[in-house]
Amino acid sequence: MPDALPVVAVLATGGTIAGAQADATSAGYKAGTFSVNDLLAAVPQLAGIADIRAEQVANVGSQNMTHAVWRALAERVDALCQDASVAGIVITHGTDTLEETAYFLSLLIQHDKPIVLVGAMRPATALGAEGPANLYNAVALARHPDARGRGPLVVMNEDVHYAREIQKIASAGLCAFASPNRGRAGVMHGGTPYFYSRNTTTHTTQSEFSLALLEKASWPRVDIIYAHADLQGDVIDFVADTAQGIVLAGVGDGNATDLAIAALSRAADAGVTVVRSSRTGSGFVARDVELDDGALGFVAARDLNPQKARILLMLALSVTRDAAAVQALFDRY
Ligand code: SIN
Repeated sequence: MPDALPVVAVLATGGTIAGAQADATSAGYKAGTFSVNDLLAAVPQLAGIADIRAEQVANVGSQNMTHAVWRALAERVDALCQDASVAGIVITHGTDTLEETAYFLSLLIQHDKPIVLVGAMRPATALGAEGPANLYNAVALARHPDARGRGPLVVMNEDVHYAREIQKIASAGLCAFASPNRGRAGVMHGGTPYFYSRNTTTHTTQSEFSLALLEKASWPRVDIIYAHADLQGDVIDFVADTAQGIVLAGVGDGNATDLAIAALSRAADAGVTVVRSSRTGSGFVARDVELDDGALGFVAARDLNPQKARILLMLALSVTRDAAAVQALFDRY
């Protein structure tokens, strides 16, 4: 008897990888059109490397990713991680919020089984669609022992990225992803992963967060304020009325106009947790560089981008409202 192929679960959530156009050269398309079985049928070579178990978790453009889908996805991934017959898990996903889902899972899934997220920049019907090759690489990575213990990984365009590091850096084109601070994790070559680095950040089995922390009905509300020249304070006052946390996507090292900082300080005084991050796309936001974070009651996001800082703050607020304790979590994750 030949050896059985490793079982890889493929959970589909939609995105351009499942998108359809009216014709193969048009720019317009609808994300989340094809089913998981359609995606798999486009890659018959998968039958040679894995025993695939397919599930449709959602079928949305990832601009419409919701906390409800995240919960369903995380619960399913957690169950599959506990299933000893499954070697690895692949999640097909739109590219717009793929990095957020990957980071969310890296904080909440307390297992070291390979979890690989994958998308495509070109719809499935496009000339030169790269989704089938990306999906093949994702399955090849998810079944590979070297992918274990690294937290969720993302494979796009033959590059492998860690969940905490990856960022969509371009709105179009195949080279739309990078890991600007620490660099990509590795590459896929001929269906084999070659890693360049270990993941030295805190994730999965070291994480103190779990799905149980998040109330089913309502997760702590955290909004992002995008800084710009002449930013006024009233928009922050408005947001602070309903938010439990605010992430500033600040200019430079997480800064904003005096009016905005005053409004954020008012929010912090009123019990809203304020995290300063940078809108620049890379680099570090440290405490007390241009602002006195201690006096203002602010938290510094270090090298987490605003959209990932929002996720960590949401989880942090489910365990503490103390700014120093939240800072300690940002120092760790
Ligand atoms: C989406 O995020 O669903 C649309 C864009 C994409 O997948 O590339």
